[in-house]
Amino acid sequence: MNLIFTLRHFLKAGYYNGHRVHSPNIFNFFKYVIFSKEKFDYSLAENAYTTLRKNRDNITVTTFGAKGGKTKDVKISSLAKKSSSKGKYGRLLQRTANFLQPRKILELGTSLGVGTLYLSAGSPDSKIITLEGCTSIHNLACESFTNHNVNNIEAINSGFDDILEKLIADNQDIDLVYIDGNHTYQATMDYYELFSRRLESGAVLLFDDINWSKGMSKAWREIVKDSKSIVTIETARMGIVFLNPKLTPKHYCTRF
Ligand SMILES: C[S@@+](CC[C@H](N)C(=O)[O-])C[C@H]1O[C@@H](n2cnc3c(N)ncnc32)[C@H](O)[C@@H]1O
Repeated sequence: MNLIFTLRHFLKAGYYNGHRVHSPNIFNFFKYVIFSKEKFDYSLAENAYTTLRKNRDNITVTTFGAKGGKTKDVKISSLAKKSSSKGKYGRLLQRTANFLQPRKILELGTSLGVGTLYLSAGSPDSKIITLEGCTSIHNLACESFTNHNVNNIEAINSGFDDILEKLIADNQDIDLVYIDGNHTYQATMDYYELFSRRLESGAVLLFDDINWSKGMSKAWREIVKDSKSIVTIETARMGIVFLNPKLTPKHYCTRF
């Protein structure tokens, strides 16, 4: 995460506990998702993560996204540490899915499937579609889903841009999109335009790594200002967009 953007975020952040939030739906989102005091069982994703972290085998990966186009050997344990959702952000994914109970969830960037498992545990009745470009990483994620007996996940091995238009046309009932790959300014804006125009108005978009680079921060600031983003919530790392025009428009910048 870019240090300057992170410091800037903490200086402007407020809304520590939801008390200054007036919209009932968003108040509940703060209460039950961002600052939840309820006990959740996070063991599905966290056991999978522990297993991956113990795996000392190497795999050959092809990189996609902002630093794409290279082939290299990596230790599975290192890949898991570097690319998986974990800790409070992984748990936030699970609580978000649990609160929203989406009909379908789309994840851009499966990696080893840890984030996917948080989403799956949060809303076992949702169908989750997850996309990963690298075949060896996709195969490992599929193995993990099978080993954990999870059957609400459809994992697709494809570059995002090769499939997204058709996928959205065929799945208008996607209510939650988790965008966690291809962290460039242009790709982020393109995905935002596609989802905000083509999904139903109740949809929620989660952008990970909004302060990962100058380009990502710029994209996030433009998304916040766009009229299709009705409510936006910003943490140091994640940007959440509610497209629902029935909500009272507002931008919240919160310490999490
Ligand atoms: C940060 S990781 C995803 C982590 C995962 N969502 C989680 O929560 O554990 C990003 C993944 O997106 C994949 N990716 C990035 N850009 C892509 C693209 N344009 N098409 C397909 N896959 C891409 C990368 O190969 C990488 O595995």
